[in-house]
Amino acid sequence: MTNLTLHQFEHSVAGLGTDADIKLHQASTPAEVDAIRVEYLGRANGKLTAYQKLIPAFSDEERKKAGQKFNAVKELIEGFLANALMRLSLSVGSATAQIDLTMPSRRQFRGAEHPVTLVIEEIVGIFRELGFTVATGPEAETEWYNFTALNFPPDHPAMDMHDTMYLAEDVVLRTHTSPVQVRSLQGGPPPIRVVIPGNVYRLDPFDASHAPMFSQIEGLAVDEGVSFVDLKATLTHFAVQFFGATRTRFRPSYFPFTEPSAEMDVECRLCKGGAGGAGCAACKGTGWMEILGAGMVHPNVLDAAGVDSERYTGWAFGMGPARIALQRYGIPDIRVLYDSDVRFLEQGAR
Ligand code: PHE
Repeated sequence: MTNLTLHQFEHSVAGLGTDADIKLHQASTPAEVDAIRVEYLGRANGKLTAYQKLIPAFSDEERKKAGQKFNAVKELIEGFLANALMRLSLSVGSATAQIDLTMPSRRQFRGAEHPVTLVIEEIVGIFRELGFTVATGPEAETEWYNFTALNFPPDHPAMDMHDTMYLAEDVVLRTHTSPVQVRSLQGGPPPIRVVIPGNVYRLDPFDASHAPMFSQIEGLAVDEGVSFVDLKATLTHFAVQFFGATRTRFRPSYFPFTEPSAEMDVECRLCKGGAGGAGCAACKGTGWMEILGAGMVHPNVLDAAGVDSERYTGWAFGMGPARIALQRYGIPDIRVLYDSDVRFLEQGAR
């Protein structure tokens, strides 16, 4: 390879660049790319390196051109090498070669419904089969809908600022879903059969059994000739459906918007009423779980909503799905329902 003319030198060096390019396009692993680098640019025996050693033999004028050509082709080959490595790191083909088939698969995150949502959906489903539809209303509510129309006297303690969150003089965060009874009654003449799930707010401390925001589900049935028998029959059917065959009891109670009023208990599903009536920790030793408040819609409520209380009667109930979720899933502290801890929430994944 001695005594080359400058032209022959340039031609041969350029040819090495082309050869290297072709070989690099066929390379399929980084190791092959490296072998090609050694073949052309290796310090001892590189094909291009060999031409560097010929440069000093040229005349002063030609030596400069030979050096420029050599450097240009060297840079070219270095570029080809880098491109080849880039292509291999991006290509699926080479990635496949590096896949470790024994590696555990990446964990799939599946969404899970919140325990309270599951309870609400189940309750709604039971009432839907009885012909009830779902109604909703605003969480920011006027005093009139939240209290006045529901037959609360003007000085009722529930309206106190210590119990109720006021947004403005006359606007509250609703303290129960009962205002949607009034809105539903205003929506058109009976018959009305609705269930009303939604969030409500009270100035309660956040502790194991209270939260300042929680959900309720309300029920309302109004028509001609509706009696307390319908209330008992429907709510007993619900208890059987939701809690399984179980005993229920109704205790007299008081709400301004129902008369008469009752609270309904179901047999504690943990101790089944308790050995000798002793009960357990879940039912606080009573053998019963209180699940809802209910009653016959007060005529004043019908009148306030513009429904003829001489012609129509109805019944209503309200319950707290969070409390029911605690019982059903054996959760000891209501706060975990609102902690947004994925380790808890993902347990509801179906
Ligand atoms: N609104 C009542 C409460 O929040 C529950 C209730 C609803 C009672 C409907 C009777 C009828 O405690």
